[in-house]
Order: sequence, then structure tokens, then C-alpha cells
Amino acid sequence: MKKPRIGILFGGRSGEHEVSLLSAASVLQAIDRSRYDVQLIGITKEGHWLTSSDAERMLSAPQSTEKHLRAGDPEATASASVLVHGSGTLLRPEPAPVAASSLARLRSSAEQSLAVDVIFPVLHGTFGEDGTVQGLLELADIAYVGSGVLGSAAGMDKDVMKRLFATAKLPMTKSITLLRAEWAKNPRRATQQIEAALRYPLFIKPANLGSSVGISKVHDRKELSPAMEMAAHYDRKIVIEQSVGGKRGKARELEVAVLGNDAPEASVVGEIIPCKEFYDYDAKYLSEGSQPVIPANITKAEAKRVQQMAIAAFRACECSGMARVDFLMEPGKTERTRKIYINEINTLPGFTAISMYPKLWEASGLPYAKLIDRLIALAQERHAEKRSNAYSK
Ligand SMILES: Nc1ncnc2c1ncn2[C@@H]1O[C@H](COP(=O)(O)OP(=O)(O)O)[C@@H](O)[C@H]1O
Ligand SMILES: [Mg+2]
Repeated sequence: MKKPRIGILFGGRSGEHEVSLLSAASVLQAIDRSRYDVQLIGITKEGHWLTSSDAERMLSAPQSTEKHLRAGDPEATASASVLVHGSGTLLRPEPAPVAASSLARLRSSAEQSLAVDVIFPVLHGTFGEDGTVQGLLELADIAYVGSGVLGSAAGMDKDVMKRLFATAKLPMTKSITLLRAEWAKNPRRATQQIEAALRYPLFIKPANLGSSVGISKVHDRKELSPAMEMAAHYDRKIVIEQSVGGKRGKARELEVAVLGNDAPEASVVGEIIPCKEFYDYDAKYLSEGSQPVIPANITKAEAKRVQQMAIAAFRACECSGMARVDFLMEPGKTERTRKIYINEINTLPGFTAISMYPKLWEASGLPYAKLIDRLIALAQERHAEKRSNAYSK
């Protein structure tokens, strides 16, 4: 039997581009080459799609490729033309070199095309984790790892995510959502609305982003306005949450890995102990001080509850394949005071060999390379299942 061709899609236009390169390098190193024929597909920060040696160069020396390739360069294959499957070919939407005739354009697209059976999008954040790439892969009819369009988009939008969590009756800290237009039009009124609903300290977040970008902790009214302005810079919707941990305490951060399609399973529970006041961008990627603890130091009953909530969250957001579900816990000595709230779901969590998602599975008895096998099998299973749908009478 021919080996399945796996396209590892990495890089991307989001702020998490560099994290994606690290995740992709780990996957590439661990994936079982005796089982799969591996193809690299890199997306530069500008959104150009690179294949073969250009993609390899991007992984090994990220800066050099990005500088010399521009839109229209022959090596730079933008977007969907790399995803040729069977006879269907999607042409690149990028402007072609002025001199090229349409025939030459067609030919160059075909030359740069790549046939793959399964795509593993090792992309985080905007244009990768949010359903956009997933939509492209649906159109190209290619199986892919992770959640579909709906689950990805829902998991990216903290406001919609909360509404879905609410239908599953998952406990959440109090929050409200305001449009940036509402804030801009009448900040005083917005402040009144926030203060009527919630108590300081607050967390202010752009609804769609990740890696803690644009998120601030607000201790009192005078910090509110700069935090709202900053969040408004990143999204049209702003989520305002009451802080877990209150005025003096700091929330504990619990994380669970979920794996599966129709019958998702949960890993052991892990805990991250951030080195800063909260788990901000620095604490996530720059400083060494944030400590993962696996399994988390919580009671058996708490762990069981967290695992059940993680699976319920996965189902509520219509996820498939994988997701990491994150919780915030009130600090406290007894179970009674340690209330646990769901914080968010991440449909394409960090995936380096030392990231929490693979680590949690490893601690649950599933090593990294086997996890990759499972994810690919789940992608194929979902694709086959979807193909059994009829689309017209
Ligand atoms: N309501 C909250 N109470 C306490 N800490 C919070 C709250 N919301 C967020 N945080 C802190 O901010 C970090 C980032 O917030 P999160 O919602 O997870 O955004 P991102 O999607 O960027 O990871 C969390 O890991 C946690 O440390
Ligand atoms: Mg988070």
C-alpha cells in the first residue's frame, strides 16, 4: 500500500508564527517516516506559501527566506495552488508577474502544486486556528488534523465560546462583552456598564486572538481605559471578565488535553505555575520561569470533574481531533473554596515535544510519535465520515 502523504503546514500570518515553527520542527522530527511520506508547506508572515526546499529553509533559517521572497516570485506559491488533490486545482489568488500569460500562470501553478492526503496544520492563532485554513482545506477536499471550520472558529472567539460553554452549563467567571464601537462612542457609559456587572480586578481581552496578546489585568478604574483601548486595537469585540483569584490571590491554571472525534477522551490534568502576575506573552514564551506540573496537585475528585468539563467543552464547541481545555481555579486550601472555572479551549495548542498538550498525553501513556499517528487517523476518519454525506437530493 502507498504511504499516506502528510503535508505539514506551518508558519502563518499570526503573531504566533515563531511558535508554529517550533511546533512544526518537533512534529517533523518525531513523525514516523516509515509510515508517512512527509511534505513541508511553510507560510511566511506575509502569507506566501512555500514548498519543498524553500519550506525546509524556512524551518531551519526562518529569517532568510522571508526576506528574499516576495509576492509573485516564482518560488512563492501563495495560498491554495499548493493543495491540488485529484483533478481539482485551485489557482493562487495572488497577483501573478505582469509578464506572465495566463497559460504560463496555469503551468507555473501546476508545477508548484503538491498532492497530499492529509494536512497537519501546525498553525496557531489567526488564519490558522480560526477556521480560515480549515475552510480552504474543506474546499480542496483534503483530510486535515484537528477541528473543522465551526469548531475552530468557535474556539477562537472568546465571546461565542462562552455562549457555547453556557449551554453546556460549564462554570465560568462573570463576564460581559462590549463592541469596540460602544466603547469608542461612550466610554463613560461603558465603564458604568462594566462596573455595574463586575468587580475589580478585571481581565480585558480582545475576543479573537491568543498568546495573551492585547490582554491586561485591570486593578481599578484608572487602569480600565488604557486596557480597553489596547484590546480595541486587536478586535471589534472586547471581553471583560472578573478576575479569578480576587484582589490578592492568583488563579491556579489547570490544563487538560482532549483527543478524539465522536468519543473524545481526556488526559491527566496538568498545572502551569506562571512566573508572573498572570500567564502573559512573556511568561508563555520568553522567560524560563513558568513551571508545568503533571499531574496537577489537586484531589482525585477535582481532577475527574475537570476532565468531564473538558470533554463537555470539546463537545459544546463541536471540536474534533484535538483541543487543550484550560481552567482557572480559586486558590485555597480546601476543595470547598477552590472553585474551578473553565477559561478557554485551544483547538491548535502548542505542539512542540515539550508543550503541554503532548506532555499531558505522554503522562497519560501516549508518547509523542503515537499521538501524531492518532491525530492523522482521526483526520482520515472524519474526512471519510464527512464524505458519506449527501449534498443534494
Ligand atoms: N478571569 C481571569 N482571572 C484570572 N486570570 C485570568 C483570567 N483571564 C485570563 N487570565 C490570565 O491571563 C492568561 C491569558 O488569558 P487567556 O484567556 O487564556 O488568553 P489567551 O487566549 O491569549 O491564552 C491566562 O492564562 C491567565 O493567566
Ligand atoms: Mg490561554
